[in-house]
Amino acid sequence: MERTLHPDLEKILMDEETLSRRVAELGADISRDYAGQEIVLVGVLKGAVVFMSDLMRAITEPCRIDFLAVSSYGQGAQTSGAVRILKDLDTSVENKHVLIVEDILDSGVTLSYIIDLMEQRKPASLELCVLLDKPERRRVPIKPKYCGFAIPDEFVVGYGLDYAERFRNLPYIAAVAAHAIR
Ligand code: IMP
Ligand code: MG
Repeated sequence: MERTLHPDLEKILMDEETLSRRVAELGADISRDYAGQEIVLVGVLKGAVVFMSDLMRAITEPCRIDFLAVSSYGQGAQTSGAVRILKDLDTSVENKHVLIVEDILDSGVTLSYIIDLMEQRKPASLELCVLLDKPERRRVPIKPKYCGFAIPDEFVVGYGLDYAERFRNLPYIAAVAAHAIR
């Protein structure tokens, strides 16, 4: 089916089939690594919701889920550098196997803050799973244990990711056109 791309979008980077194939692989890797252990998936709102809802169904080991919301960005595409908790976890992660699930690892500022916060709560283990990674943009050294795709330094939306809260519902990942970025 031919689809018309929104004029603010430049091109589709990963279509639905590509995403679902990779998410299935990540789920299989995680299920193998955590065999026999219960995992607490900690999703970072709002961007991780679509990825996490697919990923959790690709994991065959028992899972619990919880969510954190932090804010590090203003409305645009540039980071402000400041991280703030908007919503904390509902449950304790002490002695649990925690897997942080995030949409994208960019500068690493947000995730390093979240990792420090989770470490203070003494989980049995702590790992990171990101759908997308922009390694060129890193300011804080972080290497995710599980990563869907490494991408170049382009602003992307869809599959949960937004540009000023738009485009989260797209079933694919697309690059935002240069003319649409302020
Ligand atoms: P970091 O702190 O720079 O690593 O930023 C991570 C957060 O910035 C992610 O959770 C996203 O919400 C947002 N972000 C970074 N790059 C993109 C992008 O290309 N599209 C949409 N959101 C992005
Ligand atoms: Mg965001």
